[in-house]
Amino acid sequence: MINQNDMRIADAGKMRLPEPGEAFNAVENAIYSRRSVRFYERNKQVPEYIVRRIIEAGRFAPSAGNSQPWKFIVVQDQTMIKEMENDVINKLKLVMKFAWYLDTWAKHKEWVAKLMMRFLPQMFHPVPFGAMRLIADGKLGLWHDAPTVIIILADKRSPGDPDLDVGIAGQNMVLTAHSYGLGTCWVSFMTPLAMYRKWKHRLGIRYPYKLMTSIAIGYPRGTPSGEFSRETKAIDWFGQDGTFKVLY
Ligand SMILES: Cc1cc2nc3c(=O)[nH]c(=O)nc-3n(C[C@H](O)[C@H](O)[C@H](O)COP(=O)(O)O)c2cc1C
Repeated sequence: MINQNDMRIADAGKMRLPEPGEAFNAVENAIYSRRSVRFYERNKQVPEYIVRRIIEAGRFAPSAGNSQPWKFIVVQDQTMIKEMENDVINKLKLVMKFAWYLDTWAKHKEWVAKLMMRFLPQMFHPVPFGAMRLIADGKLGLWHDAPTVIIILADKRSPGDPDLDVGIAGQNMVLTAHSYGLGTCWVSFMTPLAMYRKWKHRLGIRYPYKLMTSIAIGYPRGTPSGEFSRETKAIDWFGQDGTFKVLY
């Protein structure tokens, strides 16, 4: 672990504002070139010192009140990853069955459709719904055969919003791994694991911790393809001189 009094921050003194139109710096490069990787070299494990270094980047993330409300669990045991994956798939099959009944019902009763949109909007969003179906049908891998999985638990006692803090820590880890040329993919479809007593026990998912998400890590196979798009969202800008504008 990094001793905070002995941090060797390379080139920290060289940090500066870019000139207008100047090329991206290393941090920006990492942000803009990162993609979710869903194909990995199966037989190439990430060395322990690299995983530790990635976790260090998570540990140094900001958090509300410096509460650091996270717990990281590294799984490199391929049998365990497969077992977790199979258990998640079995639960997702049940969820899909339930969703199918609800969906059929909603087609006949408008009030059911309204209730679903009100209380289960995430579940019935076409993207996660489609992905869950693919995972349940075995057509999309859960952790995409990544050799390393970092499971993240969140401490519910945080004075702020532990979900947010965990997200920041996770993105620190994702960007650090990417800066080493490794591939990563956030995998939240694994949360049905918390429905199993055995996984609660094995992973320590008990108060004050809840299972939040996970990150798959490994050496990428090929280059991620598919759409890489981001919406342009309006930015409301209250200027220093009292003016207001909307920027895109
Ligand atoms: C919190 C979170 C959970 C995600 N869960 C999954 C997942 O379970 N499976 C998966 O393949 N991708 C998952 N993703 C990846 C997103 O699908 C991906 O980030 C998004 O489509 C944008 O693509 P990009 O990461 O290549 O820019 C998740 C991303 C985030 C931030």
